[in-house]
Amino acid sequence: MKDQPIGVFDSGYGGLTILREFIHYLPQYDYLYLGDNARAPYGPRSFETVYRYTLQCVEWLFSKGCPLVILACNTASAKALRTIQQNDLPHLSPQNRVLGVIRPTTEMIGTFTRSNEIGILATAGTVESESYLIETKKFYPRVKVYQEACPMWVPLVENNEHEGAGADYFVEKNVKNLLEKGRNIDTVLLACTHYPLLQEKIQKYLPGGVKLISQGEIVANSLGDYLERHPEMDSRCSKQRTVKFFTTDSTEDFDAHAAGFFGKAVHAEHIGIE
Ligand code: DGL
Repeated sequence: MKDQPIGVFDSGYGGLTILREFIHYLPQYDYLYLGDNARAPYGPRSFETVYRYTLQCVEWLFSKGCPLVILACNTASAKALRTIQQNDLPHLSPQNRVLGVIRPTTEMIGTFTRSNEIGILATAGTVESESYLIETKKFYPRVKVYQEACPMWVPLVENNEHEGAGADYFVEKNVKNLLEKGRNIDTVLLACTHYPLLQEKIQKYLPGGVKLISQGEIVANSLGDYLERHPEMDSRCSKQRTVKFFTTDSTEDFDAHAAGFFGKAVHAEHIGIE
């Protein structure tokens, strides 16, 4: 069988926290990871820019033989996924599929809360799109969603400052803001794939009894369900357990930082996308 890996895309390193779970729960597939590090972060960028960058990366993953691409980035899922699915896929590659991380997460999120109030920590772009509000309402109309944009968190993580005192300052501030918006929040979602690296710090500023949820496992289980329900797609995905990494920026930087997200050493290849 030809190499037909599952494509996993993120603006930078964050999607590695999702890929890690894919490999854990669905180890039989081949995976190809692309981080658009040269143009990260996507969080503060406009809809038009995030869409244009994401589409270029999806096209590149298709050109590498991926029949299925997962946008392992909340910002890209919020700002680009729908347009790509509805406007681009039908003429670009009607047999291929592109899926995101927001829908699978909102399908499950209501099962974690008892108070029916959940908090979302995300990039400014994801918050501004209101995707979590809209999608959660479809599955759990009684659940109230409060959001807090944390624009400093991705830069802290990308600059390897997530364990420092500077990170404490911003984490405490944003967590406090969120909890002031919804006094009965009992579940907080890390709605950015970079945030699992800040998990310990976030937990520190949450009152006991508030659940902190990260997406990796949820998204991996949802992908497993999807492939079971779509045997025609499953049979197109090659299964030789290979994982390849590509970045649009320096491979040295990527290799140096990626292990913190992925859990073990990686070696990336460089690609140029303009
Ligand atoms: N990791 C991405 C997300 O899940 C965003 C990071 C960025 O701002 O590029 O939203």
